[in-house]
Amino acid sequence: MLRCGSLITKLRKIDVFNFDLNNEIFKEASEIFSKGGLVAFPTETVYGLGANALNEQAVKNIYKAKGRPSDNPLIVHIADKKDLEPLVREVPEKASIIIERFWPGSITLIFKKSDIIPSVISGGLDTVAIRLPKNEIARSLIAVAKCPIAAPSANSSGRPSPTLAEHVLEDLNGKIDMIIDGGACEVGLESTVLDITSEFPCILRPGAVTREMLEDAIGRVDIDKEIFSEVSDTDTPKSPGMKYTHYSPKANVTIFIGDKIKVAEKINNLVFEAEHKNVKACVIATEQTKSLYHSSNVLVVGDKEKPETIAANLFKTLRECDSINASEVFTESFSEDELGLAIMNRLKKASGYNICKVD
Ligand code: TXA
Ligand code: MG
Repeated sequence: MLRCGSLITKLRKIDVFNFDLNNEIFKEASEIFSKGGLVAFPTETVYGLGANALNEQAVKNIYKAKGRPSDNPLIVHIADKKDLEPLVREVPEKASIIIERFWPGSITLIFKKSDIIPSVISGGLDTVAIRLPKNEIARSLIAVAKCPIAAPSANSSGRPSPTLAEHVLEDLNGKIDMIIDGGACEVGLESTVLDITSEFPCILRPGAVTREMLEDAIGRVDIDKEIFSEVSDTDTPKSPGMKYTHYSPKANVTIFIGDKIKVAEKINNLVFEAEHKNVKACVIATEQTKSLYHSSNVLVVGDKEKPETIAANLFKTLRECDSINASEVFTESFSEDELGLAIMNRLKKASGYNICKVD
């Protein structure tokens, strides 16, 4: 049975001071999983929309609730390293090293899939993406459910990923059974996706576990060329999710690259022009640059010296542009070093690769 989108979505708040009290919430969620239902839960990266990964119909319900294209495969989440083996055909040596060093954590590994993974999860591919999250709520939930949990980010397809329970509610209220509110996600960007099936592992989606960190553990790691270029609908990227429009607020987003003073001048002029035409514009800036702007709608995304603050706030800031009903968003760009590669990857996608170089 496919759902029609008129469920009552329960909201359950995690008690962070007395963790044992949350067991009732995990049991309630686990009942929902056993009936093929959907529960959104926090991870350290973003909120996930979970279902029992071994129940084909439940997995189909995820695609329906999100409005997600069926050829975009899902990540399977586990609670413990020992849960990996039944899901994959083999664990290459380099994968074992990465698991040892980075699991639990914000890296997803692509393996050859075993036969128990329904093909609806892998979008028809013979591989499967697996992740062991660090977040204690996520791991406790999966452990109580006693099954692997398929979970994409818990947003409507195309919208910025959710880093707060409120974001999930905004997108999926009435379409899913339950949301577990565990507060703000620490990292704020989705996990690194690493294909470990080839001789030289390849990053398909950059995240908080960076190329530098991986190369330190296993030597050469490639980065999929699609990360540096726009992917059109006709291309077939290795990670199917990379081809879709992503992370976008409703407004037009333009990224400005160049000297910070010249960028601010250019943005100030564009805001002035927009306001003259009664078009609401907002600016995304940092602690270091906010005072360069005249607009009354300056959103500070973080501290340039601390990229982790920008990562943690990026999706929330993109959603705030919608809350203030902006039609135009003018944003600064950030360094693409290390974690910056993931930050700029999401921002470029949010802009539809609308990038303006200021000389
Ligand atoms: O941090 C995260 O990874 C979050 C949390 C909830 O764990 N999940 C998440 O899932 O971001 P999702 O579905 O929004 O993104 C999964 C990405 C997509 O780009 C998808 O194409 C890719 O992983 N992917 C999944 N299975 C794959 C496979 N077998 N081969 C290549 N790419 C795969
Ligand atoms: Mg997603």
